[in-house]
Amino acid sequence: METGTNKIVLVGFMGTGKSTVSRLLADELGWLRIDTDDEIVEREGRPIAAIFAEAGEESFRRIESEVIESVMNAPGPAVVATGGGAPLAERNRQAMLARGYVVALKADASHIIARVQADPARPLLAGDAENRVPLLLEQRRSVYDFAHSIIDTTSMTAEEVAAAIMEGWK
Ligand code: S3P
Repeated sequence: METGTNKIVLVGFMGTGKSTVSRLLADELGWLRIDTDDEIVEREGRPIAAIFAEAGEESFRRIESEVIESVMNAPGPAVVATGGGAPLAERNRQAMLARGYVVALKADASHIIARVQADPARPLLAGDAENRVPLLLEQRRSVYDFAHSIIDTTSMTAEEVAAAIMEGWK
């Protein structure tokens, strides 16, 4: 681990398993788990979908950047799960890389669609994951490539993904 690095940061498209894997890692390491979406919801006092609908995506992204900055600068060790769009901003990518070991989770479109279809809370999918996911994946094709490590989770269990991250981080 590089000097000053005390966070493992999970980035990746919606439905790639960031939340589940971050829980396993935090349990294994005995570290705090922080989910930047949860932090945003708590700070704003309303769900993500309401922030998008009432304040717009730009406002959401501004809050997201502030949250990422403060989470990454918090002193203790933590496993940080980020929202799928967090690495879109250069500022966020730099904040993550400065203090974190950044791992990108990838998965096939069909797997992502199956995983997110059950969850109507993602405003960018607008209830049409089947069409929206391939479009967004294409738009974000190289957005996650800045990570220290990239793991294709398509045919892996969450436990296997967590073990692979632990192995790479040691
Ligand atoms: C988003 C992903 C969501 C959430 C918001 C925007 C995105 O997080 O931050 O709906 O732009 O991909 P998850 O990746 O946890 O679903």
